[in-house]
Amino acid sequence: MKTALLLLAVPLFGHDVITTKVTWTKEISRLVDRRCVSCHNGKGSFSLLDYASTRPWAKAIKEETGNRRMPPWQAVKGFGEFRDDAGLTQEEIELLSDWVEGGAPEGDSKWLPDGTARPGSTVPSKFSRRWQSATGGKVAAIRPNGLRPGQSAQVVAELPNGGIVPLVWIYRFDPRYLRTYQYRVPVDLPARTVIRVSPVEAGTVTLFAR
Ligand code: HEC
Repeated sequence: MKTALLLLAVPLFGHDVITTKVTWTKEISRLVDRRCVSCHNGKGSFSLLDYASTRPWAKAIKEETGNRRMPPWQAVKGFGEFRDDAGLTQEEIELLSDWVEGGAPEGDSKWLPDGTARPGSTVPSKFSRRWQSATGGKVAAIRPNGLRPGQSAQVVAELPNGGIVPLVWIYRFDPRYLRTYQYRVPVDLPARTVIRVSPVEAGTVTLFAR
């Protein structure tokens, strides 16, 4: 019965037929608030603050998030565990895709989150102490240097006992989104650990100590 009612609802935009229960007011506004409006607030980038301004971007949103181009994070998931990981989870990508495929419905305004969308918090990156291979210690964050636009690079730590610890894998670097990646849990690397960037010509990294 519910489905039948949804199908009968008059689409607001063009000929889109609503075939999903995912709505802007319930799920999508919250996801976008968490993941997108720190940039897409009409100042830094075009606005995704409300349904009216987001709806025209629906197809592009599916495209950009499905290809992991948005939000720009550049670090491949599962290769290093970062505190402020901006990359969408698979569930979030599917939620956006279901919403767009289903006609991107607005939904009942009673579900809207309280208050207006606010810019997301930015993580302060005030690291000063560098990690030294000679002494070892905990690595709190990592920052790539000298990557060329479009380049990908993997960074690993080679431990003295032969172990390998993945540090970060930057995928198709875009200099606009250069950042310091902060580990969820500082990575303890013993003295004489060797940091390898591959391919070697990709540049170097700076490791910050905790
Ligand atoms: C760190 C900042 C930032 C975040 C976070 C971010 N974006 Fe973007 N996005 C940009 C920038 C910069 C552009 C370039 C276009 C422009 O605004 O001029 C862009 C472009 C886009 C485009 C248009 C691409 C095109 O040209 O067709 C879409 C769609 C998009 N973003 C969706 C999203 C969604 C959805 C999220 C959240 C899941 C998100 N973005 C998070 C910065 C960001």
